[in-house]
Amino acid sequence: MARRAAIIGGGVIGGGWAARFALMGWEVRIFDPDPESERKIGEVVAGAARALPMLYEAPMPPRGAITFHATIAEAVAGADYIQESVPERLDLKHRVLAEVQAHCLPDAVIGSSTSGFKPSELQDGAARPGQIVVAHPFNPVYLLPLAELVPGANAAPEAVEKAKEILTSIGMFPLHVRAEIDAHIADRFLEAVWREALWLVKDGIATTEEIDNAIRYGFGLRWAQMGLFETYRVAGGEAGMRHFMAQFGPCLAWPWTKLTDVPEFTDELVDLIAGQSDAQSGHLSIRQLERLRDNNLVAILRALKGQGAAAGLLIRDHDDSLRQPLEETRPMVTVRRIVPVDWTDVNGHMNEGRYGQVFSDASEEVMTHVGADRAYIAAGNSYFTAESSIRYLAETLAGEEIYVETSVTLGEGKKLRLWHEMKRAADGAVLATCDQFLLHVSLETRRSCPPLDHVRENVERLARAHGA
Ligand SMILES: NC(=O)c1ccc[n+]([C@@H]2O[C@H](COP(=O)([O-])OP(=O)(O)OC[C@H]3O[C@@H](n4cnc5c(N)ncnc54)[C@H](O)[C@@H]3O)[C@@H](O)[C@H]2O)c1
Repeated sequence: MARRAAIIGGGVIGGGWAARFALMGWEVRIFDPDPESERKIGEVVAGAARALPMLYEAPMPPRGAITFHATIAEAVAGADYIQESVPERLDLKHRVLAEVQAHCLPDAVIGSSTSGFKPSELQDGAARPGQIVVAHPFNPVYLLPLAELVPGANAAPEAVEKAKEILTSIGMFPLHVRAEIDAHIADRFLEAVWREALWLVKDGIATTEEIDNAIRYGFGLRWAQMGLFETYRVAGGEAGMRHFMAQFGPCLAWPWTKLTDVPEFTDELVDLIAGQSDAQSGHLSIRQLERLRDNNLVAILRALKGQGAAAGLLIRDHDDSLRQPLEETRPMVTVRRIVPVDWTDVNGHMNEGRYGQVFSDASEEVMTHVGADRAYIAAGNSYFTAESSIRYLAETLAGEEIYVETSVTLGEGKKLRLWHEMKRAADGAVLATCDQFLLHVSLETRRSCPPLDHVRENVERLARAHGA
């Protein structure tokens, strides 16, 4: 049975949590008093449902149902995990947490999305303080894996472990923040950057756009893949971190920054920044900007996944954990996935090279299933594709779900022949077919040879079952 999450407060952040849980197969129950919340969450979930599955090659779990409830009591009933994402006011959070605890399971985890409050402030006066932790996410919650997990001194170790297990299972990276401070780690850091930016605009040094360019053309790219310290280590050259600190440490004493000072938020400053921001991005709606942001994040995360680096490594591992063994149906469903944004070309549809990739992924599934898996290859045997003939029958677009049905049409000795049909999930239309001929080879001699017995038997059995 699907696990159940309750989302209390369904704004920008609560909506993102709801989408992530539901897309990872959880049943989601929402409480938000705003009559518009169902519409607003619907829009967040639609954006998330398009973007999040693009990160995965493995089929996603069946999507969990999202329901809306009139009371907190109803929403939290039977939930394993509860995420509070109401506006950032301590009195409101206290009232909501008390109501949650009056009705939830005593061993459920209650995470708070708070950007600034310490867990001890939230736990203060609670019926069961040990159940409450801070789980601070980043927008969009459905794409960015980080959740700062701040238990403080009062959270129960079991609650912390359970929170880690659940957050990891929905593809997140729980960063255990060992000491509680206002704004945790990341927002403290971001606030420093934000203050500097406000000063640069106020002093007329740079516009909002120039500041964004300074980030996105340069160090923003470094941060996404190595963060700060590893980047600086590399910047120190062969002598590494010590050299970097010796070289650049002294300039920290020069008055480069205005960090301790905050510019006053006068109407003039607000008008200046809002005006510059309108000039920079006012030609795009927020929905268009969200789409742009999501597409770019997907493309960056997929590139990092290809490298097995930073957040991409986490997604790769999570992807592996979602893989299910192939079922021996006739034909077999060997691929089920969403077409990601980085697979489309200038015509807006999936590039022909990706059709080849999909069919190669399909044959790899068959190989793994018959026992020609990574260990078999490492031991010196494999199948090589000798010939494939693809027919392109219809277009497919980013965000569409596709699947491949595969039959073994020949399985004799060193010969393996597969027939693949790629279909669109929405209407079952056949998008492409592929007739693929593979030969078993010895990786030592690089010449064809018969497969080992267990692989040969599996291939022959499948060929018989598929009526080859
Ligand atoms: N926006 C961000 O980038 C961001 C990032 C990380 C964390 N957070 C934190 O997440 C929390 C929510 O922020 P947000 O940006 O989603 O705000 P938001 O204003 O978009 O959403 C808040 C939602 O809570 C609902 N709400 C109000 N009173 C409620 C109640 N009594 N019970 C249930 N729901 C109620 C509102 O109707 C609204 O839909 C805050 O604690 C914030 O600090 C925000």
